Amino acid sequence: MPNIGSYDERIKDFDWSISEKELGYKDGDVINIGWYCSDRICQMGKADKLALLWENATGREKNYTFNDVRLASNTIGSFLRGLGINDGDRVCLFLDKIPELYLGFLGILKIGAVAQPLFSAFGDESLYVRLANAETTAIITQRKHVAKVRKIRDQMPYLKHIIVVDYDGRKPLREREIAFSLEEQTPVEDLEIFPTKAESTSVLHYTSGTTGQPKGVQHVHYSLISQYLTAKWVLDLRDDDIYWCTADPGWVTGTSYGIIAPWSLGITQCVQDAGFSAEAWYRFIQKRKVTVWYSAPTAIRSLMKAGEEIVKKFDLSCLRHLASVGEPLNAEAVIWSERVFGHAFLDTYWQTETGSIMLTNFPGMKIKPGSMGKAFPGVEATVLDPKTYEPLTEPGQVGLIGFKPGWPAMMRGYWNNEATYKGKFHNGWYLSGDRSSIDREGYFWFTGRDDDVINTGGHLVSPFEVESALLEHEAVAESAVVAKPDEVNMEVVKAFVALKPGFEANADLELKIMNFIRKKLSPLAMPQEIEYVNSLPKTRSGKIMRRVLHAKEWNEEVGDLSTLEDDE
Ligand code: WTA
Repeated sequence: MPNIGSYDERIKDFDWSISEKELGYKDGDVINIGWYCSDRICQMGKADKLALLWENATGREKNYTFNDVRLASNTIGSFLRGLGINDGDRVCLFLDKIPELYLGFLGILKIGAVAQPLFSAFGDESLYVRLANAETTAIITQRKHVAKVRKIRDQMPYLKHIIVVDYDGRKPLREREIAFSLEEQTPVEDLEIFPTKAESTSVLHYTSGTTGQPKGVQHVHYSLISQYLTAKWVLDLRDDDIYWCTADPGWVTGTSYGIIAPWSLGITQCVQDAGFSAEAWYRFIQKRKVTVWYSAPTAIRSLMKAGEEIVKKFDLSCLRHLASVGEPLNAEAVIWSERVFGHAFLDTYWQTETGSIMLTNFPGMKIKPGSMGKAFPGVEATVLDPKTYEPLTEPGQVGLIGFKPGWPAMMRGYWNNEATYKGKFHNGWYLSGDRSSIDREGYFWFTGRDDDVINTGGHLVSPFEVESALLEHEAVAESAVVAKPDEVNMEVVKAFVALKPGFEANADLELKIMNFIRKKLSPLAMPQEIEYVNSLPKTRSGKIMRRVLHAKEWNEEVGDLSTLEDDE
């Protein structure tokens, strides 16, 4: 019997107080995610239970019990507090998937500071815009990433501390830089946990929109109430599970379901700090005896591409339950996984902004491959008419996905960007920015995004950000960036570029421009293709018509050009 029992029974009188009760939380109490994920689990008698099984690509391994997690997060929290970091200060985690990332995350929350995780693959420009927006006080990083911080630090007077967790004493540290080695510190047995409340800010995750700079999605400690219960009912986590969430905590999946949810449930999780390869993944599952696996469609499509023969080399009978998030999960992937692993990947839908799973397939429920499933109990979901924002009532009609605000993990704002936050709500609904239909039985079927944001391998890339970075290249006069179809990543970044006089459109320059973006932004944002053009299609007032270029890439009708030319 799955944890959720029967979905139909659960939705009848659902109330989030179910989760509050299980967590021992009452309205008005102190609620601190750092404490819930370590101290409380120890108090429940699981101090010696393994919390984290970690390894990297070179075969190094480290294991942590819940008591180790408690002590290490205390130690980091205490160190940060000693530097003068206060509750509410933003502390960025700019780390590979090393233990300090997971332990530091809890340490930051324990002192009431705000955790700001960022992908360590980000280049200096991507890093800068996010730190500048948050006016981040401290950054925790590794030797190999310090150069990127050094490049931008002088533009950031508020950045008081650059903490290096693996300093080896070789090259001198500079002003504001400080070494911190978890292994060399005396573990802090007792840390005074900052009394955060339900509405205290916990995590700031940056996500890309169509226009403007990335937005800092502001979450609160009360998000735990959603994250705990969704993990219990959708990921079906149980005490003896070995759980593997493949997501990097630079992405919301890697925090909500890669730190907070499993540890608040006292579940053992494993982490692999290594790049993707089908063989390495299967070996990891076999070695760690993974039972519950939460991953993403691009990874699943890559596994499909690697073929079934390779699966047979491993014993994957440990797997019990599989789920996926981040992009549309094609029906073929669901059917393939059922045949090859004996379990179908269950599709789940949510966003950085929603903080927790919203639409989902549940264990035990009838699965319709290609559908995102149904709304989580307590989540009121619909599709809305794009003009009136009234719910569509006919099954099969495509509209905008809307959620009634009120679930615990909902974002509380975009950092320093109230206007964009307010613009997300219409007629009492939060608009996710995606389109879907709902069938007669209440299953949601994703049809696409409602904006120009590119979803490449599950990661959102803003065309605006890439276009801005392209313009910084000496050869680029104009640029437009759109999604191009891709078999594995679903979408990849494609740039149309008009060159300045004196530059020759050739393959060598294409490579140079690609690398320029990779270094400045990230490998994900790097265009996979650059098409040289003499000029770009524009509206009368000079706004680039991405839609025209997009339609060409996808062999679609361009649509009504007259409105575009009038500057809709
Ligand atoms: C897309 C990810 C189709 C969607 C946790 C959404 C999906 C965006 C699915 C959020 C799914 C996520 N099917 N599309 N199951 N899950 N998406 O903020 O466009 O990085 O709005 O959070 O990913 O991406 P984000």
